Amino acid sequence: MTKFPNDFLWGGATAANQLEGAYDEDGKGLSIADALPGGPERFSIVNQANFDWKIDTTKYKYPNHKGIDHYHRYQEDIKLFAEMGFKCYRFSIAWSRVFPNGDDKEPNEAGLKFYDRLIDECLKYKIEPVITISHYEMPLNLVTEYGGWKNRQLIDFYENYASVVLNRYAKKVKYWMTFNEINSALHFPVMGQGLVKSNGADEKKNIYQAWHNQFVAGAKAVKIAHEIRPDLMIGCMLLYATTYAYDSNPANQLAALKENQAFNQFCGDVQVRGTYPAYTESVMNRYGFSFKDLDVTADDLKVLKENPVDYIGFSYYMSTAINVTDKSLETANGNLVGGVKNPFLKASDWGWQIDPTGLRIALNELYNRYQKPVFVVENGLGAVDKPDENNFVQDDYRISYLRKHIQAIAGALEDGVDVMGYTPWGCIDLVSASTGQMSKRYGFIYVDLDDEGHGSLNRYKKASFNWYQKVIETNGEQL
Ligand code: BG6
Repeated sequence: MTKFPNDFLWGGATAANQLEGAYDEDGKGLSIADALPGGPERFSIVNQANFDWKIDTTKYKYPNHKGIDHYHRYQEDIKLFAEMGFKCYRFSIAWSRVFPNGDDKEPNEAGLKFYDRLIDECLKYKIEPVITISHYEMPLNLVTEYGGWKNRQLIDFYENYASVVLNRYAKKVKYWMTFNEINSALHFPVMGQGLVKSNGADEKKNIYQAWHNQFVAGAKAVKIAHEIRPDLMIGCMLLYATTYAYDSNPANQLAALKENQAFNQFCGDVQVRGTYPAYTESVMNRYGFSFKDLDVTADDLKVLKENPVDYIGFSYYMSTAINVTDKSLETANGNLVGGVKNPFLKASDWGWQIDPTGLRIALNELYNRYQKPVFVVENGLGAVDKPDENNFVQDDYRISYLRKHIQAIAGALEDGVDVMGYTPWGCIDLVSASTGQMSKRYGFIYVDLDDEGHGSLNRYKKASFNWYQKVIETNGEQL
């Protein structure tokens, strides 16, 4: 098997809103994640016309409030990551911990101090921090008072926030990402853009306007980052779902190509190349509007052009198959990105179609499209774990999933792809983003906490913990 490069960044990934808890401590403001009800019906509640972001604890549970209490247990958690041999740790900064309302004049020093401590804890073990500036966690006030990312004013708020965290941490932190899974908004605009029915989520034009604002904000962050530290690497972050035509029918091939452009490629094309792609107008026309309907200034286009990202971070969980010719085919319901069921693939318990080869294809597609390094910053199997009486989980299903995906990365290296690293999602169990469940677990570390919020919060190593430790120790030789 192809060897992994010596500086390959093995690690794990998390997001502030899904593990920190302490949602109202030390001056933190409310974020959109704090107002999302827990449970598999999370998205259907949010999609109701009368969803108004009010926190109602008599009606719903809010698992993100407690997370897994990482805010108070980060030392124990980082120590476990170090024991696994992590070379890097991808986490996000909670915007609402630094700017509680998003539009505050001054940052919250107590919030910044937490990340000082977290970063130093990583560095103590020679773990390279990889920071996502905004991961599904914008200050709630920016949605209720400003209408979310479709409002241009957010560019300034984000620029200010990015400038504060970059100035504070860039000396110690080389790897950054601007927005988590920016393209996911095409299918669920609530998480990344703060758009729900009441503020225009149903109108695609708003999603594209919000994206434009995010592209500009992200490019400004890139500019600041490079001014502070020229060797700093700041990437975009895409949700990549490798897209196949269901069969060789040219109509399905064309539909797959268009879906690929609209979902996988559009955001990356702007952020990596710094210009809107040739198919922009055709995608927008499909949704009933034109590029000229968007609020885009000449200055915006200049900022985009001058500040492309340095690498492409992406999450990979599933592939999708596109069919427009046979209406009788079953849709892949669990797949966040739609499509039909692929008869060659099995799905996870949550219906996500498992496809390691799709990861090798994704890596090839991304690298050969952009010729910039690619970084697999999320991947993993959400599964129900059943601990034994000693709280040990024999998660062979997870090991098997990860092994095949790592083999796919090795295959891509063999294909000549420049892969920077691999940070499996939820390296420690945490609250699921799409369903707000604890029972959908990804971790190498089991956290004793259930969907009702009961449990000791104690941490226990799963079988996959020792397995992954060996993978890192042997630099991917022993899988
Ligand atoms: C990605 C997100 O979509 O997938 C994470 O960046 C998320 O925030 C992860 O947790 C897994 O999804 P879920 O819904 O199973 O938590």
